[in-house]
Amino acid sequence: MFDLKPESTDVEAEVLRGLTAEPKWLPPKYFYDERGSRLFEAITALPEYYLTRTELAIFDAHMPDIARSIGPGSCLVEYGSGSSLKIRKVLEEVAPAAYVPVDISGDHLVDMAERLRSDFPALAIYPVCADFTSAFELPAVVRRMPKVGFFPGSSIGNFDPVEAQAFLGRIRNTVGEGGRLIIGVDLKKDVHVLEAAYDDAAGVTADFNLNLLRHLADVLGVELDPGRFAHRAAYNADVGAVQMFLDVAETHEVQIGDTRIRFEAGESVHTENSFKYDPDDFLALAARAGFSRVGAFTDAQGWFGVFLLEATAEA
Ligand code: TRP
Repeated sequence: MFDLKPESTDVEAEVLRGLTAEPKWLPPKYFYDERGSRLFEAITALPEYYLTRTELAIFDAHMPDIARSIGPGSCLVEYGSGSSLKIRKVLEEVAPAAYVPVDISGDHLVDMAERLRSDFPALAIYPVCADFTSAFELPAVVRRMPKVGFFPGSSIGNFDPVEAQAFLGRIRNTVGEGGRLIIGVDLKKDVHVLEAAYDDAAGVTADFNLNLLRHLADVLGVELDPGRFAHRAAYNADVGAVQMFLDVAETHEVQIGDTRIRFEAGESVHTENSFKYDPDDFLALAARAGFSRVGAFTDAQGWFGVFLLEATAEA
């Protein structure tokens, strides 16, 4: 594994920055401890969370086109590697020269690479442990191969559009002129469908959102109590995003380092955004980052889009 993991950040300072802001917020990257990752896996199987199954169905329906866009001899670079279900579907159809999964969790990378190696023994896998939202170097062995980025799951929606454009611009630099990107994007639709996907009847998403507090309480050794908060998800049409909050159920204070944080009943702590796009708006954003459209696939209801993009000469 290539280890480019950044120096550990000051979690307390980061959390205090959010909790002393007005309105309060918390960094979403702390959703994904072991329990959080398990809860997210459960979310992807919920009846209300249409995203994962819809994207998989699009991959199944259009795999020949997707596979064809990954030329022989190319290097597939996956930004964040979750359950690896989607990359497996691709690898069953095409044999790229190399596969580079990039993820912040080294343990997860090593596990995933090991399982993939036993199922695809001929595939050269070069895992890179890095924060893929920042610039990072690819291993030297793949430098001359044509590159195809792979970013499924609509994780692009967790950036605001300005960050999303900057991030796509960095992918564009990584894949280089003529390089490609296969990206999954959740689309705008009926607000009830959107909100149910982020507030399921079984309460798994609520658990996932509240787990942020539990995880931070653990890491910081503070008394953030999930029992005093409630999950809320609301689609904000002005910004085009489902916004996740932890609403304070009862007024209380929590000591974090030298700072006493007061949580007022009725106030909200913002935890995450999930931006939704119209296909043309997404393609316009991609164009501003230096990508042109090669293909665009959607399901019959037009709920989710998989876009094949190519890096143009000039961003
Ligand atoms: N990338 C996922 C999404 O935006 C993450 C997610 C799903 C999420 N459910 C959530 C984030 C609930 C916070 C709260 O669809």
